[in-house]
Amino acid sequence: MFPDPQSRSAHLYQRARKVLPDGVSRSTVLVRPHPIYVAEGEGAWITDVDGHRLLDCNNNFTAILLGHANPVINDAVTAQLAAGSAFSLATEAEIELAETLCDRVPSFDRVRFCNSGTEAVMGAIKAARAFTGRPMIAKVEGSYHGTYDHAETSLGPGTDEWGDADSPASVPYAAGAPASVAAETAILPYNNPSAARSIIDRCAGDLAAVLIDTLPSRVGFPQPDPAFLDAVVSTAESVGALVILDEVITFRLGIAGNQGRLAMNPDLTALAKIIGGGFPVGAVAGRAEVMGVFESPDGDTRPAVPSGGTFSANSVTMVAGQACLTQLTDASFARLADLGVRARHGLERVFVDAGVKWQVTGEGSLFRIHPHQRTVLSYRDAAHSPSEATRMAHLQHQLINRGVWYSGYGMGCLSLAMDEADIDHLVGAVADSLAEVGG
Ligand SMILES: Cc1ncc(COP(=O)(O)O)c(C=O)c1O
Repeated sequence: MFPDPQSRSAHLYQRARKVLPDGVSRSTVLVRPHPIYVAEGEGAWITDVDGHRLLDCNNNFTAILLGHANPVINDAVTAQLAAGSAFSLATEAEIELAETLCDRVPSFDRVRFCNSGTEAVMGAIKAARAFTGRPMIAKVEGSYHGTYDHAETSLGPGTDEWGDADSPASVPYAAGAPASVAAETAILPYNNPSAARSIIDRCAGDLAAVLIDTLPSRVGFPQPDPAFLDAVVSTAESVGALVILDEVITFRLGIAGNQGRLAMNPDLTALAKIIGGGFPVGAVAGRAEVMGVFESPDGDTRPAVPSGGTFSANSVTMVAGQACLTQLTDASFARLADLGVRARHGLERVFVDAGVKWQVTGEGSLFRIHPHQRTVLSYRDAAHSPSEATRMAHLQHQLINRGVWYSGYGMGCLSLAMDEADIDHLVGAVADSLAEVGG
């Protein structure tokens, strides 16, 4: 049973706390009172160091699409390992992966690889600033885009910090962030077209770009209102600002990402997660004219936005990404979407049967359970009260004890290694857990 002070996980955590702040290397894996330590994963399932098997409904925060230890990716990586992992030379593998991406997505003329979604978002913002000569960005309240200072502004403001619903306050996230960061970041309420228009208009000549995610996880996976997306894109264009689409997660929704499904044509896109096939990756992709800021005018002069990165486009990541993407077809995304529908419908049925006022949102292979029935349009609707946060943590514990690995804040994610029986296992585990958690 979790938590278990005698478990190997609990002992490893005691050891870890002596050398790692909080005992972990990313706060997102910290489950109280101790994290679960993984031994191995295969397909849809992982096994922890105490021998418990868990259906992986997190998939490394959505980065794993084909399941763990995918044999095709493993073969590609193993072959590459024998030939070396990283070099200070260009490789054909990076051309191949960039070609695959550009072939699939109409808005991609050029790709610049890096090592994470955080770096991709930062690179896109720098590119937009260099291209427009303007300092500011606008982003959505509560939306997660990694840990670059401007991009994490107003990620998790408390109710006392929210400010006006039509003009949210710009709230620094990490303590010590310079005041200038908040001043250079305008905050939009999601799904509010008139507020988006007036905030973007207000920034006008100072605004380099609007950074937007079409299915923001921390905002609760609300369906984007087409009028909102239209207001963002048209107002950005009217003030001469660029649109940066964050597809770090949503690229798992379709062969051309969510922009393909929504017929969007952003200036720049930030990518990461699935395009690395399970290895660290990021990329900025976009229109040739804008991507020109990464180019040296004559091969000698410094580009407008210099970008390096010791492990950017390393050979292992490039071949893994290519081996992942080339296994994905329209049919793969359709199958994932079917599994997602089965999960969301099953969960809705469970909430009704249990008589709890819970709900589930999401799209494709992504879902989020909410321990309330407020209509989720924006961050403020989805933000948990302290008692809701406690119930979600309780749900996570209960699910662990029923063989499901699931995030503590409610986000779930499916993989192509799952089948219908796995989805039914998840739904059944939530049903059983609710008896303990209550509603
Ligand atoms: C939408 C979005 N953007 C950016 C990031 C940052 O990506 P990374 O964790 O690779 O830095 C994440 C990470 O979860 C994300 O969900």
